[in-house]
Amino acid sequence: MSSPGTEARWWHGATLYQVYVRSFQDTNDDGYGDLNGVTARLDYLAWLGVDGIWLSPTMPSPDHDWGYDVSDYLGVHPELGTLADLDRLIGEAGQRGMRVLLDLVPNHTSSAHPWFVAASGDPASPYRDYYVWADPAPGGGPPNNWLAATGASAWTLDPRSGQYYLHNFLPSQPDLNWWEPRVHEAFREILRFWFDRGVAGFRIDVAQGLYKDAELRDDPPAPEADVVRSRFGLAQVYSANRPESHAVFRDWRKIADSYPSPRLLLGETWVGDLHALAAFHGHGDELQLTFNFPFIFAPFSAAALSAVVAETLADLPAGEVPVWTASNHDISRFPTRWCRGDEGKARLALLVLATLPGTCVLYNGDEIAMTDVDVPDALVRDLMRAETGARESRDRSRTPMPWDDSLAAGFTGAGVRPWLPGGGRSSRNVAAQRADPASTLHLCRELIALRRAEFAGQLMGYQQLAAPAGVWAYRSGGLIVVANFTDAPVSLAGVGGAGGVAGEVLIRSDRAAGAAAGFVGRWAGVILR
Ligand code: GLC
Ligand code: CA
Repeated sequence: MSSPGTEARWWHGATLYQVYVRSFQDTNDDGYGDLNGVTARLDYLAWLGVDGIWLSPTMPSPDHDWGYDVSDYLGVHPELGTLADLDRLIGEAGQRGMRVLLDLVPNHTSSAHPWFVAASGDPASPYRDYYVWADPAPGGGPPNNWLAATGASAWTLDPRSGQYYLHNFLPSQPDLNWWEPRVHEAFREILRFWFDRGVAGFRIDVAQGLYKDAELRDDPPAPEADVVRSRFGLAQVYSANRPESHAVFRDWRKIADSYPSPRLLLGETWVGDLHALAAFHGHGDELQLTFNFPFIFAPFSAAALSAVVAETLADLPAGEVPVWTASNHDISRFPTRWCRGDEGKARLALLVLATLPGTCVLYNGDEIAMTDVDVPDALVRDLMRAETGARESRDRSRTPMPWDDSLAAGFTGAGVRPWLPGGGRSSRNVAAQRADPASTLHLCRELIALRRAEFAGQLMGYQQLAAPAGVWAYRSGGLIVVANFTDAPVSLAGVGGAGGVAGEVLIRSDRAAGAAAGFVGRWAGVILR
């Protein structure tokens, strides 16, 4: 598949695909997707052409946060399958040229994890210091002003010891104490365990979180109100984002690089500052890839998106590549968030995502322009919202993959009620789009194939070209991309300076008949060479 040189950086120019396992494919009719379901759909993913998949949490968990509350880091959740099923999935994916990344949750465990059970049961327990404990504030109440992702205090009182424990998420997700060296040792073992089983890497949950301020100082008010920079009005200066976490990633990187095929560390780096994002790459010795939330939350406009891309590339250390993604299981899907359901706009977004340098990560459903599904309150399964009602349920982006237009959508057995409702019968399903060569699914597949042919294993150049307002034009590797974010067609003659840009049209995002030669249709993009 790739030469020895490109093997060492196989994620350059690659397309990864996030599988939200519980909503991908159910094989035993319990209404939940499972690992065998992913295996059953590998031929589809190979047809689509992705280089690797990231599986949402697979480890045993009480599922207060759907696997992001881990009770055993070395196992497989029985509802999803067995270790043997996972081994088989990794093997079968490998035979199809695809790598498998798991989700690793190092910021916190489940309160059901044996470490926390021991620690909370006995202040003298050897596991006590695996977690963050603090005495009440002098006048009583939580030790400081830190807030959890629910909007409530990040501290819960443990009545047995009279101390509070820290949880940046749900009370059943106690934060680990990374000042404790044994926590480091435990995670080194966890990494090796999975890498030895052939796991190609990890998506690292809450990568900015690990260390907390040793003095537990109050978080200051957030200067800006936006979702990445502010947690209910506070800037997470002390409750997360501590510089000491970088040493953890340097340590893990050494482990990742010690394998003949280097393992990949992809951070869920939830930071609003692109310099801080770049810092997670260290000097090329920390995380190889980092999710870019300022890009995700930028408005869907040429000016806003191109500005984030330019600054991201300017900030990255030499030799490092960015990640472009627009949907995941925590946020509104981009065909809804960016495109208000407009499929033409979603096709434009896919064309841009697939032609930017670095790594592209798609979320299952992106390839068919799947939109959010309204989940009625009575069916909501996301507790992060139910706690305080302070944030919207994330279930809207977690609903079952629509494989066909049957009532069960091909996701589960006929008559079985899926764990989250599907969106009803829709033409945006895999079977219908696979049968239509002009569909978004086919466009996405062509984009991925072009991306692989042009970019695989390479550190590609990117150069923005002059263009009229609302148009984003750039050279990426050997391709020229013109992306029209306006309501009117634009002429290629007006792009890129004197004489305009010209070349063979390789792909256009609008269905070919609509666009006149030499023009890019409204809300459409073209790729030229
Ligand atoms: C990450 C996950 C999210 C989870 C949180 C706590 O943001 O993506 O789903 O709730 O971390 O683990
Ligand atoms: Ca199942």
